[in-house]
Amino acid sequence: MEFRTIIEPFRIHSVAPIAMTTQSQREKLIADAGYNLFSLHSDDVLIDLLTDSGTGAMSRNQWAAIQHGDESYAGSPSWLIFKEAVQNLFPFKHIIPTHQGRAAEKILFTAIGGQGKVIPNNTHFDTTRANIEYSKAEAVDLVIAEGKDPASKHPFKGNMDIGALENFIKVNGVENIPIVMMTITNNSSGGQPVSLENLRAVSAICKKYGIPFFLDAARFAENAWFIREREVGQGNREVADIVREIAQLADGMTISAKKDPFGNIGGWLAMNDDGLAMQARNLLILTEGFPTYGGLAGRDLEALAVGLTEAVSHDYLKYRIQSTAYLGNALAMMGIPVVQPIGGHAVYIDAKALLPQIPSLHYPGQALAIELYTVGGIRGCEIGSVMFGRKPDGSEVASAMELVRLAIPRRTYTQSHIDYVIEVCAEVVKLAPTLTGYTIVKEPPALRHFTAEFAPL
Ligand code: F0G
Repeated sequence: MEFRTIIEPFRIHSVAPIAMTTQSQREKLIADAGYNLFSLHSDDVLIDLLTDSGTGAMSRNQWAAIQHGDESYAGSPSWLIFKEAVQNLFPFKHIIPTHQGRAAEKILFTAIGGQGKVIPNNTHFDTTRANIEYSKAEAVDLVIAEGKDPASKHPFKGNMDIGALENFIKVNGVENIPIVMMTITNNSSGGQPVSLENLRAVSAICKKYGIPFFLDAARFAENAWFIREREVGQGNREVADIVREIAQLADGMTISAKKDPFGNIGGWLAMNDDGLAMQARNLLILTEGFPTYGGLAGRDLEALAVGLTEAVSHDYLKYRIQSTAYLGNALAMMGIPVVQPIGGHAVYIDAKALLPQIPSLHYPGQALAIELYTVGGIRGCEIGSVMFGRKPDGSEVASAMELVRLAIPRRTYTQSHIDYVIEVCAEVVKLAPTLTGYTIVKEPPALRHFTAEFAPL
């Protein structure tokens, strides 16, 4: 018998308080923050859906592992425990621990990027793109067309356009493509999964042309669960087994361990190539640390080793994916346009469709995010013209989509918190026709969404 209520497959073990605020207090707090949600004190937020990165709750076994951490500079037993846990799922020859995902990216693209190089991905995450461009290489997105259509219900909207990839290789030349990447799940286009069939096809193309294939695997377990649920012939497999097959299709990976591996901090870079590994370790020593701890403390390595075993639990993943869909489906049912199907780690609201009266360069996503905060103390994140609108030449161009991402931290909020979010959204929908836009009164030269100040129009 399947019951309707999805219970959290854990009990609360340690709690952190949520301080209650009123709408009039929040109106003042957000005005004082220059209408930028990144500038709020997190104590003034009731439900923090800014990101799922590093904000999840650790298990008692992870906390116990923290106590077991060994902080030896070289050759710590915590390193061996971590390495074994990583290689159990991702059997790459070389594992290089970093403090988070972007540190792994920085090392990788310092080694293989540079002027004249081009690196395709389904969709590059912002820090991946930024690290490629910083090396003077070019980052190109080749996701399938359905991946760019918020309403399309394709089950694997993170898939790479295989024809476009092969054409890309022919046009740019094998010698200019140091790696092909795949982001699982595809965060930038809505937390959408990639199918095993697509990963096999990309792997085969890479082998055919002799180009290494790398994963950006922050949400690997959620992706593998979607494969188990949605892909023909995969329904009886262990998620851990699917993850191992994905890893074996690739030649290396970068990962932010702040997502599926349940770390509050952490990441790694892995590969089979000895020469690249030596280069990467030399760079690691320059900025992160000695190769047996990289950018992490021994206790962090141990917490991640345990987190990796918990990340592939079927009970956990079933709850994780269903509970994200619970929020997304509730919003869709009340007529809020959301990116379909609901992704693994977040619900993305289409603010352009919800607030058609606000032109893109008056930032409908920002207006919606501010309203969610003032009405209910919910902090989401604008992913639209505020984040992407300012171009390197100084011009401002509207982003293709104006989204607000409600990212769900892992094992952190209960169903009643989410029911509250749904109620707040229902209230905001009623107010939607009356909402107006914002203008930017102050912005830094780059990455303006973090620190810009806004004023209501
Ligand atoms: N790759 C993907 C797919 C990511 O989602 C992130 C981070 C990174 C790489 C970079 O990892 O933060 O550990 O340096 N995403 C966070 C987010 C910040 O909110 O989606 P990091």
